[in-house]
Order: sequence, then structure tokens, then C-alpha cells
Amino acid sequence: MRVYFDNAATTPIDPEVLKEMYKVMENHYGNPSSIHGHGREVRTLIERSRKTIANLLHASPSEIFFTSGGTEADNTAIRCGIVDNGITHAISSQIEHHAVIHTLEAMQKAGTIKLSYVDVDSKGTVDYDHLERLLKENDRSFVSLMHANNELGTLSDMERIGDLCEQYNAIYHSDTVQTMGHFAHDLSKLKTHFMVCAAHKLHGPKGIGFLYVNHKVKIKPFIYGGAQERNMRGGTENVYGIVGLAKALEMAYADMEQHQQYIQGLKSYMIGQLKASIPGVKFNGETDVDKSLYTVLNVSFPCSDMADMMLFNLDIAGISASGGSACSSGTDIGSHVLNAIGGIGAGPSVRFSFSKYNTKEEVDYTVSKLKELCMAYA
Ligand SMILES: Cc1ncc(COP(=O)(O)O)c(C=O)c1O
Repeated sequence: MRVYFDNAATTPIDPEVLKEMYKVMENHYGNPSSIHGHGREVRTLIERSRKTIANLLHASPSEIFFTSGGTEADNTAIRCGIVDNGITHAISSQIEHHAVIHTLEAMQKAGTIKLSYVDVDSKGTVDYDHLERLLKENDRSFVSLMHANNELGTLSDMERIGDLCEQYNAIYHSDTVQTMGHFAHDLSKLKTHFMVCAAHKLHGPKGIGFLYVNHKVKIKPFIYGGAQERNMRGGTENVYGIVGLAKALEMAYADMEQHQQYIQGLKSYMIGQLKASIPGVKFNGETDVDKSLYTVLNVSFPCSDMADMMLFNLDIAGISASGGSACSSGTDIGSHVLNAIGGIGAGPSVRFSFSKYNTKEEVDYTVSKLKELCMAYA
């Protein structure tokens, strides 16, 4: 049996999404910036996709900018949000994705900003009182706090952060890569200035995403070139990707409740099976399934002798999971997120992440292999 439990790293593309993209690849090859008919029909596809996305999120199409994915969108939000608004202080957390932390650290190193980290507790939950103190002490900060942590699944309260940012005149960026298409974001109500999406996390293609820029903040171009993306991001658009992204988001919204219920059920089932089969198993992050990202389950195993071999052994059994962010795999420095929340024990920790394509049989198979491994290394 082969099991894919690494959907927080990336998801398999939905065949319906592929079909839409394939149609465009086959039939629409004009350059969308060309003013002739071949170009105009492709421009129409892009603008239609932008409108679809904006409508789903209750945003304006002029607030959606296509990017190469989550990393570029995060970089753009942070760099432009800070520099173009004359901000000199940023607040973030030590459990953000490297797309956020490394960007902020580079800006701190260059002397552009002073960077403060808000405290998080052992589940990765933001200390909102500390956040308020930091906002109070520093006039007009840039706040970058993710919606769902990609390793733990712990959620932040976007409404609460948005209210605090409004109260203290701060600009608010939320890395929503893990929740776009999994929760219905209503941008007419949220007080975020920047939000991001990567299509490959929601059964769309890789290498495409978008940055939402609330019309109340102004930023200057990030990539200079042609007039694409209303002069904000030069370069011929990834047309197939854009069409695939819009289709993937549309499908995610259409079936969101049903998928949420199904995937949450799988996660709860796996928690129950693990508890019943492996004494001493521990769950990292927010354990209340109603208060966490339903696609992510982070588990620490009691078999300390196995240490780094757990993922290797799972891989041999045909199970793909991860120890943390896929972008850091191979660097072997441990998870910066687990290190930041501390106290996860000596045994190996594994992130299992689910999608609509996973089944209970896959959970049963995985738990039986985990039990065998834990007994072998006890
Ligand atoms: C929370 C978070 N932010 C940003 C990214 C980067 O997205 P991309 O792979 O599209 O560059 C990821 C991807 O793992 C993520 O999980």
C-alpha cells in the first residue's frame, strides 16, 4: 500500500482542474498582453479567473495579484508593505514559515526594520496580550502572523489580530497558505491588509498563487518589467496556472463543508487509533480538532531510540509524511517550529497531513505500521 499523508507540503492535482488547464494549453496560446484576438481571448481567461477568486473571497478583482505561489506572495507583502509604507518596526512569531521569517530577518539585518517576536505558548497559540503590548510600544507596526501553522495546525484568531492592528494603526499580513480553500475567508469582514494563496495546497497546480492587497494599502511594483498585473508584477502571466488556481479554489469552496467534515473525521479517527495502539503517544499543537486546521496532525512518538529514523522507516513502508516544512527537508536542523514551542520529548515527531483523497484504510495501515515500529524501537 502507498499512502500520501503529506498534503500540507503539497496536494495531488484534481483531475477537473487538470482538464481546465489542458483546454487552455491546447486552445489558447496567445500572449495575454497582445492586443489582437489571440491575445485578447487569453486576457479574458485571466481576468475571468481573477473575478472568480475575488468573488469567492468577497474582495475586489483589483485586490488580487497573481504570483508564483506562497513564497513570492509573502515576500511581496512583507517587503512592499514595509518599505512602501515607511514602516520601521515589524512584529511576527518564531513559528512562521521561512518565507516570512527569512524575509523579515533579512530586512532586520539590512537595518530596514526592528523586528519583535510575539510570544507563543506550547501549542503555538499567539499571546494576544503580548501582541497588544508590542503594538502599543511601537507606533505603526507591520504585523505578520500566519492563520494556520503548517507544522502544528494551530490557528490564530484573525478577527482579534485585525481588531488590534486597527486599534494601533498597524498593517496586518496573514500567511494564509494553509487555510485558503480550507476555510471560507470573507475579506469584506476581515481587517487584513495582505493575504496569500498557493494553488498547490488545494489540489491546484504548483508555481501559481496570489497576493491579496486590501485597497486601503498602496504598494509599488515588486517585479519590474511589462505592465502585467496592473504594473505590479512584470512578466508574461502563467495562464494555465491562473486558470487552474481559479478552478481549484472554486471547487474547494463548492465542497468545503463536506470535505471539512470528512477530513476532520479522518483526523479524529487517527488520533483515536494512535491513542489506542501506542501508549505514550503525544500530540503537538492545538489538539482540539474544532480549533485547529483539520488537515494537519503533528504527533510525537515515545520510541526515543528511533530518533531520526521514523520518516525513513515510514517511507520504506510506503507512507509519505514529513517532519516539518517540506522546504527545509534535507537541511537536517530539526523543525524551527517544534524548537520554538519546546518540550516535545526525545522521540521522533511526524506531521501527518490529510486531503479529500485519503481514506480510513490508509489511516489503519499507517497506525499498524507505526505500532510495529514503536514496538521494534521500544
Ligand atoms: C504557511 C506557508 N507559507 C508559505 C509557504 C510557501 O508556499 P509556496 O510553496 O507556494 O512557495 C508554505 C508552503 O509550504 C506554507 O506552508
